Amino acid sequence: MVTIIVGAQWGDEGKGKIVDVLAERADIVARYQGGANAGHTLVVEGKTIVLHLIPSGILHPHVQCVIGNGVVLDPVALRQEIAMLDAMGISVRGRLFISHKAHVIMPYHKLLDAAREQHQGIGTTGRGIGPAYIDKYSRVGIRVVDLLDRRVLEEKLRTNLAEKNALLEKIYGAERLDVEQIVAEYLEFDRYIDEFVTDTSALLHNALREGKQILAEGAQGALLDVDHGTYPFVTSSNPTSGGACTGLGIPPTAVARIIGLAKAYSTRVGNGPFPTELHDETGELLRRLGNEYGATTGRARRCGWLDLVALRYSVMINGITELALTKLDVLGKLSSFKVCTGYRLGNQPLKSFPADARTLDTVEPEYIELEGWQSSLDAAHTIEELPAQARQLVRLIEDYCEVRVSLISTGAERHQIVRRT
Ligand code: IMP
Repeated sequence: MVTIIVGAQWGDEGKGKIVDVLAERADIVARYQGGANAGHTLVVEGKTIVLHLIPSGILHPHVQCVIGNGVVLDPVALRQEIAMLDAMGISVRGRLFISHKAHVIMPYHKLLDAAREQHQGIGTTGRGIGPAYIDKYSRVGIRVVDLLDRRVLEEKLRTNLAEKNALLEKIYGAERLDVEQIVAEYLEFDRYIDEFVTDTSALLHNALREGKQILAEGAQGALLDVDHGTYPFVTSSNPTSGGACTGLGIPPTAVARIIGLAKAYSTRVGNGPFPTELHDETGELLRRLGNEYGATTGRARRCGWLDLVALRYSVMINGITELALTKLDVLGKLSSFKVCTGYRLGNQPLKSFPADARTLDTVEPEYIELEGWQSSLDAAHTIEELPAQARQLVRLIEDYCEVRVSLISTGAERHQIVRRT
């Protein structure tokens, strides 16, 4: 059975912790899209661990981890992450499986990402994600399987570099890259990852046949989805639930649950519309209390109120069957807080989420205000043990989005969780 974990907002909803908690009862955690642009933060026994590529289930020794075909694999980031885990005494050997169909991030992807960003102003993470997906869909991408044959790799690289060097030099005024050096570097990388590479779709299908539990872990969030997000201020893949099937090679019929993660307030990194953004000291307070700084780039996240119009849209396009509400402890530190329950465009109420980023940029959010509780949630492990104001917020979300909140995270540590049966 497959459970998909999807970010229901603009990413950074706390997927690392929720996947880590759910991984206790899973056999496999499989990442289906994105690359090292993601930053999944876990706090275990006071120690903070940030993972960019390797699924957040890796901390559980019984869990197998898959990097699916939908991911764009950054060799540098992967090696750093494996080394970091090794240093912590966590071995990935025999437990990490990388799809031979995954596309590989090349040095020119990062250079092109940086160069294009100056013109486009999306606020990308600079990890080469967009250019790698462009090559995938242009059908010139280099996949993990291509690393196995030196001749194939060299040929593909020469063709790619002829175009990329012209772009870098003539359009972006950057330096040319050397084919030989890249071939040598990537052949060495192939030797390194060889033991992890396999047919991950077959692995997942076998696991399904054996009745195993698979968690499909998305990166980023639905509102950054290239099809359904706030285009063009989006990432270049499909974090929405449909991406799990294409990004892992599993059928929709295998999916039993889709858990959407939503933070009790909203954040966004990079540019693009954000109707409930707070430009005042309350926004700064949320940033400080929630430590809202990018796990990948260190950038300060833009902060604002929970947006139920956007969340309901996300529930719809993802087919979310239950919500996990995160960082409730942070919101409760405020004496009062707001929740957006509608948009206005001029004098017109707008109940749906607009497709056009410019329209979304001009909507006026309508709010209701709720009282904070300003007490610790540490002792709460059932919904009844939460303060009345927190329960009121949970009810509001459930009524508005027509979906149950089944998990509530009340802090960064594993034990700070409310589970509803
Ligand atoms: P890219 O994915 O690096 O191309 O960046 C495209 C947009 O997605 C930018 O606004 C990034 O800030 C945003 N983004 C990418 N990855 C994440 C993430 O893991 N969390 C939040 N925002 C992200």
